Amino acid sequence: MTKTSEVYDYRENWPPYTYRDYPDIKPEAYKSFIKFLNTENTSGKLMELQPWVSVCDSRCAFCYFPTTASNKVEIEEYLDLLKKELAMYAKTKYVKTSVFDEIVLGGGTPSVLSAEQIIDLLNFCKANFTTNSEYFIKVSGSSKTLALQKIKKLADYGVYQIDIGAQTFDDKLRKALCLPDSAADVEEAIKYARKLGLVVCVDLMYNLPGQTMESWKATLKKTIKLDAEVDAYSLHVDPGTILEKMIKNGTAPPQGNAEYEKQMFLTAHKMLIEAGYKAVGHDRYSRVEWHMRENCLNNWPWGGILTTGAGCFMGYLQKFSYSNIENITDYMETVRSEKLPICKLSESTVEDMMRRTMTRLYLRLPVSKKEFVEKFNTTPEQIFPQQLAKLQEKGLIEIDDQEIRTTKLGETYKGNIAWEFAPSQQIK
Ligand SMILES: C[S@@+](CC[C@H](N)C(=O)[O-])C[C@H]1O[C@@H](n2cnc3c(N)ncnc32)[C@H](O)[C@@H]1O
Ligand code: SF4
Repeated sequence: MTKTSEVYDYRENWPPYTYRDYPDIKPEAYKSFIKFLNTENTSGKLMELQPWVSVCDSRCAFCYFPTTASNKVEIEEYLDLLKKELAMYAKTKYVKTSVFDEIVLGGGTPSVLSAEQIIDLLNFCKANFTTNSEYFIKVSGSSKTLALQKIKKLADYGVYQIDIGAQTFDDKLRKALCLPDSAADVEEAIKYARKLGLVVCVDLMYNLPGQTMESWKATLKKTIKLDAEVDAYSLHVDPGTILEKMIKNGTAPPQGNAEYEKQMFLTAHKMLIEAGYKAVGHDRYSRVEWHMRENCLNNWPWGGILTTGAGCFMGYLQKFSYSNIENITDYMETVRSEKLPICKLSESTVEDMMRRTMTRLYLRLPVSKKEFVEKFNTTPEQIFPQQLAKLQEKGLIEIDDQEIRTTKLGETYKGNIAWEFAPSQQIK
């Protein structure tokens, strides 16, 4: 068995084939996408509808999401145009023949909307898209805009899950990272939502500047006690963020090194698994049965996320992946002119689809050999002999007659595993 320290110098937390790699949209690509939208969806896979409210009422120091301050947007006008964009998709043959089992309001912070505005948007989605007999509504938000009354109205409406960006329960760190609400506020919102029977999934972050192992453990302990689901993200200091400037000018300490980051990951993994959570998807720990069989996740890369709104970047429909215009004024202008507000669009080749299929390993999902042969008429071993041999040699994957899956060691390096299958021009 290879020693952990010899596997990779550092853990990759971000996989290939994300919006950061899509090319800027060209007229031929737009045409090709429109042509595709006029075909029938014959995949037989359920999809996720993901409208974004890319607005926030404050700016967290670490955040790389393309959001606009709520006082700089005419919210009602934005919502009208968001619906207009949704309606443009809803009219296409592909979407008319698609069935959705998740409606996820993302962003940004959809909780900046009133409960009535959220419900109106959800009603619009339900009226214009076909939902499966079993479907789930998720709304993401921050405790600073999730008044208890709002949570109650959403629960009464039938929202299944609230995603809250908790980040840390350490008030000293919260202040340093420009999070305006206190740990007690976040706790109150979670407790109340849980009392009403809502599933709560909290985003937590580790390897924050100045975050001690004790602070991280205390945050995890509190989350487990509150009976919340967890998305545990390793902080990535993005260029242009407030935090990057703070670290550069010395007002924030630097992050921990790669070894410290790994220890924080392993600590969380151990604590959560011991508390009965299962690691699912890229960064989630869950005790909710449905999360294990979530269609959008399990069918990667053949399901689909239809995302809309300024700056949304997680859209993928079969071989097409896209992200929208980030600037909210330009986004609104483009939708007004009846054009899909896409700014980056990638059309995968068959080879890309094979590589993307292998990134199931990043999502802690096996690669079924049978399905690979059905889709591509060849086997993963024929296409990726060196990559598979290298990963097996490092003790990161196991291969049997049926499937390829990550080992326990591979869990820690799932991002690095995914990069082994990236095309050479994407490798940094
Ligand atoms: C769109 S936000 C979630 C919802 C909501 N806006 C909030 O923060 O309460 C998605 C999550 O991404 C994570 N995130 C943001 N910036 C990050 C960064 N630089 N590195 C790692 N994770 C980050 C945070 O945990 C954040 O809650
Ligand atoms: S983390 Fe969430 S609340 Fe904070 S700025 Fe980003 S999107 Fe807004």
